Amino acid sequence: EGSFDTTGFGREIDYMRISVTDRCNLRCRYCMPDGVPLTSMEKILTFEEIKLVCQAAVSLGITRFKITGGEPLVRLGCPQLAGMIKAIPGTEQVTLTTNGILLERYLGELAENGLDAVNISLDTMKRSVYEQITGYDGLEAVKSGIEAAVETGMKVKINCVPQSGVNDDEWEDFVCLTKDSRVDVRFIEMMPIGYGKKCAGMSGDEILRRIREKYPDIEKDDSVHGNGPAVYYRLPGAKGSVGFISAIHGKFCGSCNRIRMTAEGELKPCLCYNDSVDIREALRTPGCSEEQIREQIRKAVLGKPQMHCFERADQMSEERKMSQIGG
Ligand code: GTP
Ligand code: 5AD
Ligand code: SF4
Repeated sequence: EGSFDTTGFGREIDYMRISVTDRCNLRCRYCMPDGVPLTSMEKILTFEEIKLVCQAAVSLGITRFKITGGEPLVRLGCPQLAGMIKAIPGTEQVTLTTNGILLERYLGELAENGLDAVNISLDTMKRSVYEQITGYDGLEAVKSGIEAAVETGMKVKINCVPQSGVNDDEWEDFVCLTKDSRVDVRFIEMMPIGYGKKCAGMSGDEILRRIREKYPDIEKDDSVHGNGPAVYYRLPGAKGSVGFISAIHGKFCGSCNRIRMTAEGELKPCLCYNDSVDIREALRTPGCSEEQIREQIRKAVLGKPQMHCFERADQMSEERKMSQIGG
């Protein structure tokens, strides 16, 4: 059928973010501090169900998939799921976004299963600050995971969410990582989702201003780095790039190419609104056909709003936490 634009806003939807679990082995303060309720296991889609959704999606032109969570690697068999999706004829890409704690352990299996790229969350390179942000003394594990990932030759990106007074003095260390290492570092603006509402993030503009002050020769990098909304720059001669995901100050909804699926099988047209299309019920109805799944996917795509409204707290209807809806 080819990739389809049914959103009415000239957008082509060819990318699906799939949350495979709402569980996580960290407790980041802005995402999943203690006390976020967990979904019961029987509600969570099985790998077979996820595969059926992906097959239907591919037939609609949605050919790139991101596996996320919660923390996807806490779900047993995550690498095999990547392989199952990759094996669907027509799938172009399967990538993973992880906090990196379990990455070293699963990297071999992920590579064997054809994973195309990995994004790793790392907000600080200071052990004590890492523990302060995530509630766990895991910095070394994540660093080993990053190194191991780079060694496989896979595309590696680091996700850093700057917070005023917490890690905003570390931007230079992150930028410098791109000099000698083949990794992209992305600075992400805090979004007012869940506990993110209560945290002071920083605008991408402010980080870029600081970078330019010290590295005036940083230049725009227009090559394609992934499927995401990041805008990239590069230090001359650097091996990696510096990206910005500025959902608030650089609204990118006009080029949105994605839908999301939560771990319990709701298709979410946009991060900001609680509207969703249930796909689990269809999947669990005996005799469910691929066309019925496609119908749900079409509904979700048609339901995509023109843009998010993060700047209007009173209009935001999504009240769940980031780990529950998928990052
Ligand atoms: P790639 O560049 O292909 O790896 O994709 P990506 O950057 O979208 O992947 P990643 O999972 O690493 O997401 C990085 C950040 O972008 C996370 O904080 C996401 O929540 C955020 N993000 C991803 N998609 C969207 C989106 O559609 N809208 C908004 N507002 N934020 C998004
Ligand atoms: N705003 C922006 N980014 C967030 N993440 C989690 N919660 C938020 C939020 N409220 C980030 C994580 C991870 C990525 C998948 O999403 O730090 O790097
Ligand atoms: Fe876990 Fe990622 Fe949320 Fe941190 S941001 S608690 S690592 S899901």
